[in-house]
Amino acid sequence: MMEMLGLVAASSYAQHIDFVFNMIFWITAFWLLLAEFVFFYLILRFRKKAGVKGQYITGELASEKRWITIPHFAVLLFDVVILFFAVKVWYEVKQNLPQAADQQLVRVIGQQWAWTFVHAGPDGKLDTPDDIIKVNELHVQVDKLHIFQLESKDVLHDFSVPVFRLKQDVIPGRVITGWFTPTKTGEYDIQCAEICGIGHALMPARIVIESSDQHAAWMAENSTVAVASATAR
Ligand code: CUA
Repeated sequence: MMEMLGLVAASSYAQHIDFVFNMIFWITAFWLLLAEFVFFYLILRFRKKAGVKGQYITGELASEKRWITIPHFAVLLFDVVILFFAVKVWYEVKQNLPQAADQQLVRVIGQQWAWTFVHAGPDGKLDTPDDIIKVNELHVQVDKLHIFQLESKDVLHDFSVPVFRLKQDVIPGRVITGWFTPTKTGEYDIQCAEICGIGHALMPARIVIESSDQHAAWMAENSTVAVASATAR
């Protein structure tokens, strides 16, 4: 449904998150429509009629209690289904940290009110001279596993990339590790999603998802020691 509303799905797990959202929406819609249908049916069926006296029903008979117990267990059953898929997707996105030989590393630093992105550069390691540091501009390569390390310099922030369906709190004093694999090239929004002071709304950034050629060209252009470290390897 998110796709229908026009928000691109650009990570390997975006569709899985959308699936859980859509499932919850349709289950809720099903119960709402069913409950309203029964409700209006009963109102019309048992409305006031001339010569018919109203009944006082206590709901103590087994045949009456079934109106409560059967929907109750049906709702619980649907809850178990939601829980199963929610935990499955949560595990995939948040608990699990995939590994790949050619994974990219990036440090994401939140502060009042900007994002700093430390790209590992051609050597694939952070805190080396070829790191590429950008403010409010994250460059990644399509179809490549990225491991990010989230840090905050001051208060709580939240690293949100809507096209990835990724949202993760940034907590001062902690390094939070996570991952994503972009699946579509293009330029999209990053937004701080945690109230972090007066400038919170002014804390957007951009993510640029590039093809491997574009990304290599961007790295060569921006890393001052790109050529030296590439030959040293
Ligand atoms: Cu940073 Cu809101």
